[in-house]
This record gives sequence, C-alpha cells and structure tokens, in this order.
Amino acid sequence: MSKAVKYIQSKFQGIKPKVGIILGSGLGSFVDVLENPLSFSYDELDGFPDAGVSGHEGKLHLGKINHTEIAVLQGRAHYYESGQADAMKVPVRTLAGLGCESLILTNAAGSLMEAAQPGSVMAITDHINFTGVNPLFGEKSNNRFVDMADAYNSDMRSRFHKIADNDNIKLHEGVYIWFCGPSFETSAEIRAAKMMGADAVGMSTVPEVILARQAGMKVSALSVITNMAAGMSDEVLSHEQTMANAEKGIQDLQALLIRFLELYS
Ligand code: HPA
Repeated sequence: MSKAVKYIQSKFQGIKPKVGIILGSGLGSFVDVLENPLSFSYDELDGFPDAGVSGHEGKLHLGKINHTEIAVLQGRAHYYESGQADAMKVPVRTLAGLGCESLILTNAAGSLMEAAQPGSVMAITDHINFTGVNPLFGEKSNNRFVDMADAYNSDMRSRFHKIADNDNIKLHEGVYIWFCGPSFETSAEIRAAKMMGADAVGMSTVPEVILARQAGMKVSALSVITNMAAGMSDEVLSHEQTMANAEKGIQDLQALLIRFLELYS
C-alpha cells in the first residue's frame, strides 16, 4: 500500500470511495456540493505533484453525494509543466488504492466539430495520443502493456447520455486528441488532427486514462468545450479566453456529474 493511501486511511478510517473524479480547469466549484468533505492538500500527500496552473488548486477531497462515496482530485499536473508524462501517476494510483472502481475525468477542450460550440459538453468516446510520450515509460513489469481498446466505458457513457436527455442537456460525443502544449496548436495541426479522426483537442486527460486503465478502473471522461480549435474561428486563443467561455459548459457538466453520482450503483 502506498504512503499516501496509508496516510489518508489513517486520518479517515473506513473510507472506501467508489468513484474517483479529476476536475479540469474551472471545475473546482463542484466540490461545494460534497456533504461533509474531508480535504487534503497535495503538499501533505507523498508523491503528489504541485498543481499550480491558474484555475487549479491541489487538493484531494473525500465526501459523499447521496449515498455514493467519492474521491475528488481538484487540480492536475500536466505534462507541459514538468516534461514528465507520469506527473499524475501517484494521484491516480491513490484513487485506485483507496478503492475507486471508476474514474471520471473532466477537462477543457477545443472543438473540431462545428456542431459543438464553446459552452457545450462532449463525452469522450476514445482518444488519440499525439504526443509520443506515455506515463508508463520506464515501468518494469509486464503490466505496462495495457490494453487500450475500449478504454472509455460505454455503459458509463450511456448513463451520462440518459441523464443529459432527461435533463435537456445537449451532450456531444467524440474523439479527444492529446497535444502536449503549452502553446496551442497551429491551424495546420488542427487540420491534420481532423483528418486523423479527432473531434476535440486538449492538453490533459490521456495520461490519467492510461494510468487508470492499468490500475483496472473503469473510465469515463467529459470535456467542456471552451473554444473552437485553432483556425476554426477568428478568436485569438488564450488561457483567459478559454476560461471565460467555459461557464455554461461548466454548469451543464456539473449537473451531469451530480446526477450521475446520485444515481450511481
Ligand atoms: N487546444 C488545446 N487545449 C485546449 C484547447 C485547445 O484549443 N482549449 C482548451 N484546452
């Protein structure tokens, strides 16, 4: 058992979250809905990264929504911050070590689909790792050879779609392509990504999905579309603009997430 898992369990006996959640940029207010949360700063947890990008706060929260016990990572480290693709290895393994059987990831993404405009939400069906790096580089055992076909759980996704239909939320779906950032993509890169089959682009999530699949967790992921990808609109891309456009999508994504967890069994 890892040091972080031991430490958390020593502070909060009997804790057994079923679902882990990783919150993307701007989604931090989700934690306000937790009943009686217990929170740890990443600084307290052995092997956890600094999570310093604006809109991110490095905290692990344990709490409940209805009867569902959850563990929420507020703040992620990105590959572009340190050049290390395994920056989220300890946090993801900690969620698995605490007992999470499922992991829901959220992020901000640029859209390559005209139909999915800024402020909308997309369920990720699959991904393309366009960075050439992998969080399992350097792992020694044979469990580094992780099966990534059907990485995104279709049962969880169809539950999100049912909730979206019931609550009148438009939920797009598509393939997410991981670019390493931190500069945004060029227009030519986005045209190439489109030809490869991508529907949305971002700088996160894929390493955590690989780590979660290796740890045996079921995975689902939702993107808030904050902008049209490079070359698809006249807007100049910036982090500030990305965050400003996110509001409507953030509200819809949070509603989907809360309902999903209320109904979780
Ligand atoms: N590209 C990469 N990452 C992003 C984008 C984008 O257009 N929007 C939000 N995150």
